[in-house]
Amino acid sequence: MINDLWYKNAVVYCLNLSTFMDADGDGVGDFKGLMRRLDYLHGLGITAIWLMPFQPSPGRDHGYDVSDYYNVDPRYGTLGDFVEFTHAAKSRGIRVIIDLVVNHTSDQHPWFQEARRDPKSRHRDWYVWSDRKPANAGTGMVFPGVQKTTWTHDKLAKAYYFHRFYEFQPDLNTSHPEVHAEILKIMGFWIELGVAGFRMDAVPFIISGKGPEVDRPVEHFDMLRSFREFVQWRQGDAVLLAEANILPQDDLKYFGDDGDRMHMCFNFQVNQTLFYALASADTRPLAKALNATEPRPATAQWGLFLRNHDELDLGRLTEKQRRTVFAAFGPDPCMQLYDRGIRRRLAPMLDGDRRRMELAYSLLFTLPGTPVLRYGDEIGMGDDLSLPERECARTPMQWSTEPNGGFTKAKTPEVPVISGGPYGFERINAAIQRRNPESLLNWMERIIRMRKECPEIGWGRFAVIDAGDPGVLALRYDWRNNAVLVVHNLKDKPCEVALDPGPTGGSPRLTNLLSEDHADVGEDGRACLVLEAYGYRWFRVGGLDYILRRSDL
Ligand code: GLC
Repeated sequence: MINDLWYKNAVVYCLNLSTFMDADGDGVGDFKGLMRRLDYLHGLGITAIWLMPFQPSPGRDHGYDVSDYYNVDPRYGTLGDFVEFTHAAKSRGIRVIIDLVVNHTSDQHPWFQEARRDPKSRHRDWYVWSDRKPANAGTGMVFPGVQKTTWTHDKLAKAYYFHRFYEFQPDLNTSHPEVHAEILKIMGFWIELGVAGFRMDAVPFIISGKGPEVDRPVEHFDMLRSFREFVQWRQGDAVLLAEANILPQDDLKYFGDDGDRMHMCFNFQVNQTLFYALASADTRPLAKALNATEPRPATAQWGLFLRNHDELDLGRLTEKQRRTVFAAFGPDPCMQLYDRGIRRRLAPMLDGDRRRMELAYSLLFTLPGTPVLRYGDEIGMGDDLSLPERECARTPMQWSTEPNGGFTKAKTPEVPVISGGPYGFERINAAIQRRNPESLLNWMERIIRMRKECPEIGWGRFAVIDAGDPGVLALRYDWRNNAVLVVHNLKDKPCEVALDPGPTGGSPRLTNLLSEDHADVGEDGRACLVLEAYGYRWFRVGGLDYILRRSDL
């Protein structure tokens, strides 16, 4: 059971091949390079890799514009290298999830090329066309400011085509039965080559009705069920992780009431309110988001993240909350993007303050869900704001003090490595941190280990415990006679709280899992905790010094 639902307690590491490790010295990362770094990832303790798109692509949106779904971009290697890689990962107990980008293709995809040339071609209806410019062409852009329209005229086709994203990403007509069948075929192909599942890109758009007359698109949730069924028939433990920035009232539509749709969805509500909490030290909206996103089928799970390859999207916050986060983490307009987000990496947002980074990661690892780390964040990498749009937070991994941070032997990598200043590779790199027991990297390894030893977090039910202070978030998890209590002080000042942790199973002890600073529940049923500024505690409730009652598993 536990193994089957492996994603409930996984630790996922997301990486982009092109900027991870270059083995052949052409300045672009590749599968051979990634394979050389699998022991590093294994040592860090992660249990799954989410690999961003690596299929052939003109590369105008970091591979999210695929021109061949059944191949590997030659810059990264071959299909053979891919299989070597999934095998090597598997033999270290690491599962591989890949991006599945099927809301749209590249405009260079042969399907689109054929479709635009010939109205009678088999692939014409695989895309979404209109003879006239639809009235809503100026609405619904995902990249406002950069993207001017969602319908672009194509000279060859003599028609307008629909594109939710950039104009070089024509939307597939996903409700067309042949397109649907092709999506299943793509999934089946990669499953056969060893993947453990898919991060499905842009899910709300895949399932939404598309067409010139569609003003208020209706979502076809049944599609999600058919994806799920297919994946599970092919491979019982394969998972679907949806990128779906949705409201809590729609969560169950994505998970399915009976857990028969997406296994996992990224929790954007929690992500945004978490950043608000870090910026304002007011944890109430975060607690509200946790409670609002709590209902989900037993087999479903949230994917939690701090930063990812996109901007930190703050579109779900109120205007006032968003301004607070902008002021704290991205005050300069050049740090902001599309008027709704911040394009920086985590470490510079937190001024490189170790206490705040630990606090943020401690929250990531103890909120309800499965943590998803972004490459480079384990060593506190920075960003390069001179690069356009989201590129600034997609620079090469900094491995060592060697030229170009040890990422490549090429003189000039395709994407420049951050050099000089507080976040340059000379100071921030994996090699230095590996040798220093106090480094962020080694802290991260320890916290990952502890997260794995607290399966209550992934499996259990949680309750927000009143700490009597909006600057302090306390959560308790219960699962099979085991309980953990986690407490975080988001303020820049020390504080004392007295909280009732709930039933303690006969022993008043709260065993600190990270240090010797244990606590006891007093006669009045309360535990008094003194927390330093940005302090955090992980306790096992009820005096169990060891991690789990194994017999209860
Ligand atoms: C998703 C990806 C983003 C990409 C877009 C278009 O939102 O996360 O990086 O640009 O889809 O595929």
